[in-house]
Amino acid sequence: MKITLSQEHSVPVAAGGLGIFFEDINYAADGGLYAELLENRNFEAKRAHGKIGAFLAEQDGGYAWEAYPAGASVACKVKDDRPLYAENPHYLRVVTQAEKCGVRNKAYDGIFLKKGDVLRLSFWVRSYDLRGFARAGVYTATGAVFEVKAKLRADGKWHRYAYRVRAKADCAGAAFAFTLDKPGAVHIDAFSLMPENAVFGVFRRDLAVLLKELRPGFVRFPGGCVVEGNSLANRYQWKCSVGQPERRKHNWNRWAVHGASREGDFCSQFSHYGQTLGIGYYEYFRLCEYLGAKPLPVLGLGIACQYMSDEAVALDDPALEAYIQEALDVVEFANGGTDTVWGRVRAEMGHPEPFGLEYLGLGNEQWETAQSDFYRRFALFSARVREKYPDIKIIGTVGPDTDTPRSKDAWKWTRNALAKDANFVYASDEHFYAPPGWLYDHVGMYDEYPRAGKVYVGEYAAHIEGKANCLSPEGNVWEGALAEAAFMTGTERNADVVVMKSYAPLLARIGYTQWSPDLIWFDACRAFGSVNYHVQKMYSLYTGDVSYKAVSDAAGVYVSATSSGDLTYVKAVNATDKEVAAEVEGDFAFGDMLRIVQMAGALSDCNTAEQPEKLVPVEVAPTSARAALLPPHSFSVLVFRK
Ligand code: AHR
Repeated sequence: MKITLSQEHSVPVAAGGLGIFFEDINYAADGGLYAELLENRNFEAKRAHGKIGAFLAEQDGGYAWEAYPAGASVACKVKDDRPLYAENPHYLRVVTQAEKCGVRNKAYDGIFLKKGDVLRLSFWVRSYDLRGFARAGVYTATGAVFEVKAKLRADGKWHRYAYRVRAKADCAGAAFAFTLDKPGAVHIDAFSLMPENAVFGVFRRDLAVLLKELRPGFVRFPGGCVVEGNSLANRYQWKCSVGQPERRKHNWNRWAVHGASREGDFCSQFSHYGQTLGIGYYEYFRLCEYLGAKPLPVLGLGIACQYMSDEAVALDDPALEAYIQEALDVVEFANGGTDTVWGRVRAEMGHPEPFGLEYLGLGNEQWETAQSDFYRRFALFSARVREKYPDIKIIGTVGPDTDTPRSKDAWKWTRNALAKDANFVYASDEHFYAPPGWLYDHVGMYDEYPRAGKVYVGEYAAHIEGKANCLSPEGNVWEGALAEAAFMTGTERNADVVVMKSYAPLLARIGYTQWSPDLIWFDACRAFGSVNYHVQKMYSLYTGDVSYKAVSDAAGVYVSATSSGDLTYVKAVNATDKEVAAEVEGDFAFGDMLRIVQMAGALSDCNTAEQPEKLVPVEVAPTSARAALLPPHSFSVLVFRK
């Protein structure tokens, strides 16, 4: 078969167009990228439950804590009088009736450490009359992995205790516990056990490295539906996410009620999934710096998740101004001088230099209804932001799907608005979670797209019946990733209209997953990329700055080609079950084949915690300057050099 490249219809590829979409779903933040090892460290947990239009979150501050040793006579009560921090007022009163007992923390799956690991441990204690010592440490059946001894001060005041500790042995699923040497009562709050190797003291290193290796051009955050919330009260409020971590007001996570059903009394197994906001807006911007990616914060527009609620602040309600101000102030937080209100907050957090924000997402998956009044609403937000910050590139939304009446209507509205105002939006976000067959059928979808109105494919993934929503890495099979690779040849060929894209969701903790497939899987001590991750990485590493017309003359073989300098990258997906001999020709000089980077496997192949590299890209030595064998069910990047 022949792959024919033509310079005639080449288009530029926007730099940094392949990004990542970080949403706090599947314990991506607390219990995930946020390296903090303790769960519900500040006794603010809530138990969320409910049904569409009626969600509730009740305080359950004792969640994840229990008596230690098991069965010890320990009375615990969550209290909020004379709190350590008014924003997160709950703390735990611990009353022990014997020596050497107290409480332990669930810490998700327990504590996993390697001998020699160094950690920062801190906590606050208030004692009115108990003197003597408290101890905190990590314990296994054979003893302490580390332990610290804190002298209690019986003065009725909160005192902070902080230590640098080192694990004396390996441990898996061990107990973090706080105990009192003598019987008595104390108040405890704001625990932290943070590995010292956390990137910037915040990000779990193995996950941060996997993200960095993807070389994302941008990071969209913090969601997703999390932005909108299941109610407006539950929406993500970035102003609560900055400043001292302990004072960031805990919010329940809207994914805590995912899958809640009448049979389960409208309560899911993740009912305590919360947001401590240990990763907040400052940390998201810092993450972007670490990754060398542009930030793309997404702001709500005064509408709760339209799948979950009809709640919306009316356009003539003065309360809407606060939402507009949130959008304006985030630009000031990122880019404002240190003499501005929010620029000063950023500086006080340790970053006087601006973050260089260029993009702002307005709305997640919004669509027009009588309640949402979305078109007029978006126009208002966009106008207000651009009035104050004319250089900010606005990312709009055309709803939760594509090729539907509502998305077609949204595109019509967008294009009409762009005809009158070229900067109305920089790009519009469209989403699809679709079967492989749909992705193959739509490889050419953007060939037909009108060029007025650029696309940000902000969420997409192949969802295979029987595999999607299996909530484990086994659902991320090669069949789906291969279809995504094929679909992306279409977005790459149409790089003039598809200017940005990001797979979704990004992270999933095994056993804590609400949505799958996902790009990266992890547990307490392991992290690995799915086969889909490696497809994204191949696109990220091997894409140039100009995209050519690329045509395959074989059914089931999908191609695209880009160049940068003297290198040309030809991507070829062989979706058939036969080996294909491919020959590349073109109407310009692109040189000889230098390398082949290839993934080839069975459609059922997947990476798992036990076999994290079952299917990863490999280097194949070229045997000819222009020809290569494409194995069955393979994705290849053929690299040519002039
Ligand atoms: O990626 C998971 C969810 O899918 C996102 O939160 C939402 O935007 C979409 O519906």
